[in-house]
Amino acid sequence: MKVFALNASARKDGNTAILLGTVLDELKNEGMETELIQLGGKTINGCRACYKCMENVDKHCVVKSDMLNEIMDKMVEADGILLGSPTYFSDVTANMRAVIERCGFVARANGYMLKRKVGASVVAVRRAGAIPAFSGMNLFLHYMQMVMPGSSYWSLGVGRDIGEVLQDEEGLQTMKTLGQNMAWLLKKLN
Ligand SMILES: Cc1cc2nc3c(=O)[nH]c(=O)nc-3n(C[C@H](O)[C@H](O)[C@H](O)COP(=O)(O)O)c2cc1C
Repeated sequence: MKVFALNASARKDGNTAILLGTVLDELKNEGMETELIQLGGKTINGCRACYKCMENVDKHCVVKSDMLNEIMDKMVEADGILLGSPTYFSDVTANMRAVIERCGFVARANGYMLKRKVGASVVAVRRAGAIPAFSGMNLFLHYMQMVMPGSSYWSLGVGRDIGEVLQDEEGLQTMKTLGQNMAWLLKKLN
């Protein structure tokens, strides 16, 4: 079974990457294949509301100028999807928002093609605003009809500078538990 993880931070290998990596390590321990794509240095454009995906029904967005369709393909291919974003002004990053808009519309246009995959999300935060960011990703997973594992707390890790989340013991434990629960759920469903 395969889990695809997406890091929508503007910083490659930052705190969100560390949190995602902690979840992925647990999944690997449980025999899952994993892949992480990081969007640092890349731009994903938001939905332009052309509604062409509803006409074309070809599992892709008509806008080919960025890597959205590559992300879409990875999501379709995976059994589990793990989304990660830092908190930017108490929300997800612009890149995560763009992924949600366009993958959401394309998936919906194609019979909810991410339906019944296992989906989860994690958030890095310096101080406050993680819950709206976490909720934003979870609302997407729910709308896509994915099945979501829980953890011992909402899956967020606290830190500002790169690596600071490693000092958040409870945050790291929450990631490990999430990874274990995600692996458990994937095995039950597949
Ligand atoms: C544009 C911007 C906005 C931010 N907004 C918030 C915020 O609303 N609340 C907060 O606690 N931290 C905020 N932060 C801090 C980041 O969430 C924090 O540094 C996080 O660990 C970054 O994760 P990364 O290393 O994966 O990029 C913001 C950072 C940036 C660059």
